[in-house]
Amino acid sequence: MLIVGLVVVLVAAWGVMGHPTGAPSSVCDHPFMEPICHRDNLSAIGFNNTGQYSLCSDAVEGSPGRVMVTLTGASFKGFVIRATTDGENLGEFNEEGSNVSFNDLTCSRQEDVAVTHVNANSKSSVSLVWEESNGGKSTFQATVVPSIETYVINIYGRSNC
Ligand SMILES: *[C@@H]1O[C@H](CO)[C@@H](O)[C@H](O)[C@H]1NC(C)=O
Ligand SMILES: *[C@@H]1O[C@H](CO)[C@@H](O)[C@H](O)[C@H]1NC(C)=O
Ligand SMILES: *[C@@H]1O[C@H](CO)[C@@H](O)[C@H](O)[C@H]1NC(C)=O
Repeated sequence: MLIVGLVVVLVAAWGVMGHPTGAPSSVCDHPFMEPICHRDNLSAIGFNNTGQYSLCSDAVEGSPGRVMVTLTGASFKGFVIRATTDGENLGEFNEEGSNVSFNDLTCSRQEDVAVTHVNANSKSSVSLVWEESNGGKSTFQATVVPSIETYVINIYGRSNC
């Protein structure tokens, strides 16, 4: 009985809090990586990135195919970072060398690979290692959830920042 009660409370909390353990895969497939469920179910308001966040992607010297991708800005709880290549994307984000844990999303397009947060702890900078294995050139894009009421989309990767 206690366990059933606990499960009910957890499910109810999930509904109120959104996705504390990661965004749904639909964010990867949305043209602007918009968290539709966050918008529709939590009445969250979306903003375009106008410099609140930066997504820096820099090749790791001496490690061909390895790219350090760093998302930085005002404190945030959730994120999705997507890597897109021309053709089939065989790369992957690797927790080894990254300073945050993450979950993989399941993207519909073969060009896309994406990951998301594993908890809703506040963070202001996360660095992830991207490993390219098809020799392609990836472009990066992110969506950030600063709070339950808001999200920021169209955060594009840049190098040398
Ligand atoms: C909104 O929440 C309902 C029930 O919790 C869920 O079935 C639905 O998929 C959610 N909507 C979106 C757009 O995710
Ligand atoms: C973001 O900008 C595009 C145009 O560049 C606009 O169509 C869209 O409505 C904006 N989205 C938000 C959430 O402000
Ligand atoms: C991850 O690395 C970045 C860049 O070095 C740093 O600013 C940030 O504080 C680190 N984040 C965590 C969660 O350790």
